[in-house]
Amino acid sequence: MQDAPARADLVFRGATLIDGSGADRVAGDLAVSGDRIVAIGDLGRTAATDEIDASGLVLCPGFIDAHTHDDRALVETPDMSAKISQGVTSVVAGNCGISLAPLTLDSWPPDPLHLLGDQTYYRFDTFGGFVEHFDAAPSAVNAGLLVGHTTLRHRHMAGRLDRPANDAELARMETDVGAAMADGAIGLSTGLDYAEAVEAPTEEVTVLAQAAGRHGGLYASHTRDYFDDVEGAIDEAIGIARDARLPLVLSHHQVSGAANFGRSKRTLALIDDAMTRQEIGLDVYPYNASSKTLDPQRCQPGVRVLITWSDSHPAMAGREIADIAAEWGCPPIEAATRLVPAGAVYFQLDEADVQRILAYPRTMIGSDGLPYDAFPHPRLWGTFPRVLGHYARDLNLFTLEEAVHRMTGLPAATFGFADRGLLRVGGHADLVLFDPDTIRDRATYTDPKQPADGIHSVFVNGEAVWQAGRETGARPGRVLQRTS
Ligand code: ZN
Ligand code: CU
Repeated sequence: MQDAPARADLVFRGATLIDGSGADRVAGDLAVSGDRIVAIGDLGRTAATDEIDASGLVLCPGFIDAHTHDDRALVETPDMSAKISQGVTSVVAGNCGISLAPLTLDSWPPDPLHLLGDQTYYRFDTFGGFVEHFDAAPSAVNAGLLVGHTTLRHRHMAGRLDRPANDAELARMETDVGAAMADGAIGLSTGLDYAEAVEAPTEEVTVLAQAAGRHGGLYASHTRDYFDDVEGAIDEAIGIARDARLPLVLSHHQVSGAANFGRSKRTLALIDDAMTRQEIGLDVYPYNASSKTLDPQRCQPGVRVLITWSDSHPAMAGREIADIAAEWGCPPIEAATRLVPAGAVYFQLDEADVQRILAYPRTMIGSDGLPYDAFPHPRLWGTFPRVLGHYARDLNLFTLEEAVHRMTGLPAATFGFADRGLLRVGGHADLVLFDPDTIRDRATYTDPKQPADGIHSVFVNGEAVWQAGRETGARPGRVLQRTS
């Protein structure tokens, strides 16, 4: 306990405080001045410029979205409504090998870079240029930024990505990783099952991971295989991080395809064992369908696939591949071939695996939302309320305190975001006030752009960004450095 200040800018009165560490809730008040939490406890004698009656509501640290593709959103649609409406106050962007910087393009970006939009958005020749742009015109949320391996391959490999980088190319990519780290990146990401990166050998990634590690960075890995060789792919990522001596984050952990249902028992055992020897984190989104760019080979008969956007046939967004194929009188694979470039939701995860991975105590929550899909996977708007409402409250998969920890204290420690993710005096005032009885995701596969119920208000660095069911227009976000 500290002495209560005589005055503060803002006091939340009578809240249920969940501090992000996993500890049990306590009743209390919390005071904010400037961008910091200045007192926690019984603050009945503290006068405040603004007061919020928080009775019946949970006050906790703002949620950290451990896995996003928000690079473009951070600079193009900085209100970040899909995120702040669910209580997210910080995002980790640049995942799956795809970062907007450093890369300039003058023609249509190849798969999977087009997941962030057309060539006009690839206009940052240095990582520092992107950071400066953000600093000059911040978004509503904070951002930790990864530099993407596939982005660097495009930058240096002269359009021929169906091969390993040669020595000269690898040396240039390595220099870029170092420069990005010096400019504020928190690490390297890869997406080794995408066509543009699949020919990159383990050694290529290890060299780049070493460069990130030398600057205190981590390695976020969308692994080489989420299907039949999922364990081999996890082994590869663990080996890269071990050899490069840096922490690993296994992105959107899942086991895909009906033949692999139940296999998360083995993958989690593998990860659990490796964690005794090295620093490993993992994230998951709380849905039993995945989403990425459309791969016609995945459109086998019997696999349910929903089109999220199509550049060649925009009107098909929101329709299933089987319907489109029937209308066109062709097999699903051919319909998909006509639809690319495109994005898709694939219904090929097992709910029991999703719950097993969520329940694993070291799993963080990451939306993997795709902000510019015409008809996005509902994880974009629904991830965090879905964990708190559906999985914690309704299914009792874990306590509310545990759910909050997985989206606050745990990711803050994993990514090294100092003074965030916990309710602590002196910490940054990233806060969410929500109703534990009504919090609920409303985004669905058929109506995906719906804000959640139950979020009362959201604060970033002490400023309200979401109140009374809408954006305030404030954009107090900052680029987050990693402190190891
Ligand atoms: Zn990915
Ligand atoms: Cu991703």
